[in-house]
Amino acid sequence: MRTQVAIIGAGPAGLLLGQLLHKHGIDNVILERQTGEYVLSRIRAGVIEKVCIDLIDEAGVGARMHQDGLIHDGVQICVDGVRHRISFKDLTGKSVMVYGQTEITKDLMDGRAAIGAPTVYAAYDVALHNIFGETPHVTYRADGKNHELQCDFIAGCDGFHGISRKSVPPNAITAHERVYPLGWLGVLSDTPPVSEELIYVHHPLGFALCSMRSPTRSRYYIQCSLAEDVEAWPDERFWEELKPRLDDEARERLVTGPSIEKSIAPLRSFVAEPMRFGRLFLAGDAAHIVPPTGAKGLNLAASDVRYLSHAFIEHYKEKSNAGLDRYSERALARVWKAERFSWWMTMLLHKISDNTFEQKMQLAELDYLFRSKAASTAFAENYVGLPY
Ligand code: FAD
Ligand code: DHB
Repeated sequence: MRTQVAIIGAGPAGLLLGQLLHKHGIDNVILERQTGEYVLSRIRAGVIEKVCIDLIDEAGVGARMHQDGLIHDGVQICVDGVRHRISFKDLTGKSVMVYGQTEITKDLMDGRAAIGAPTVYAAYDVALHNIFGETPHVTYRADGKNHELQCDFIAGCDGFHGISRKSVPPNAITAHERVYPLGWLGVLSDTPPVSEELIYVHHPLGFALCSMRSPTRSRYYIQCSLAEDVEAWPDERFWEELKPRLDDEARERLVTGPSIEKSIAPLRSFVAEPMRFGRLFLAGDAAHIVPPTGAKGLNLAASDVRYLSHAFIEHYKEKSNAGLDRYSERALARVWKAERFSWWMTMLLHKISDNTFEQKMQLAELDYLFRSKAASTAFAENYVGLPY
């Protein structure tokens, strides 16, 4: 088999890239290790920036997102039982949208099926060959047979645990990492959200987040230790841990119910540099991870895909490699700013240390954030997404 761009991974980055390339007549094949059902069962991000919305529109799969997505003009931050609101609209003129990653993935999968572009699910033992040569290719196993896919370029969109980044010689890549000693325990439930806007909670018991997927579906997270086992968290225990972290109004409005999904995600900051190796280009979580606090993971994957899709289009349509040559530098400039914001928001809102000086620093910074228009504006600008 031969294609122009071999895409590894059918998460949001791979599917979005495939759809954008197809629109411009660029052939691509996606190889995904999991089944489609498994990919759709992963509950992940919930907040998308305007740039991500625009890209989903550009890919031609935005109809359901505009119908069901919830526009949020601001966010609430609750500090030790007192809630404060930061208005994105007033401070930046922009908003964000609450629309789950699962729905985006489904829209992209449906879009891909509609155009008949090939995706190989349950593709095992994917291996990348000759990435620094003129004729890269990818081998894999599917339906009990060995396959070889020849291509011009490989897009590594296979997430943090994927094979693409690991295929690069160690001396060609530099990793920057920070692992936080905590995780998020998340619950999805078919209960109405406590508030019309997201509430990020700073509390002596630990961080919490009240989010949502729709007016009848809530997503809650509480900070937990990395040693926690999700099996040790029956629903009742989760709600009992969440309640004392909320303000009185939210506590009164909280409707509990059975969880329909429960999982633990570790918190990590990670960046691999560069993002291009010969004919291999990394995009999304394959190249970088942010702790989820700033809701940036999915949005960063989309911004990489924007740069990379434009670069491929330039290569095939205008016979120019300028975009491909600048891809890594341009993507990383945006990545590092989102890494900074996610790290800052994580350190600000979680119970990280028993050191009372550090706790006082958090409270002083939060007080400044709420009182200073400059500080709130900086927060809002980053949350809604920095310009390209
Ligand atoms: P992924 O979504 O990871 O997709 C990569 C795909 O590649 C997967 O389908 C995987 O199966 C496939 N793959 C992996 N290895 C191979 C291989 N060897 N061969 C073929 N295919 C392969 N972000 C937020 O903004 N908010 C959140 O609340 C949030 N929660 C998260 C919770 C968890 C548990 C995780 C892991 C991430 C979370 N994120 C969150 C981050 C966000 O979901 C990611 O940034 C986003 O999924 C990145 O998309 P991606 O396409 O780059 O990678
Ligand atoms: C959600 C996840 C986040 O990491 C975040 O910052 C906001 C919302 C969510 O899953 O809804």
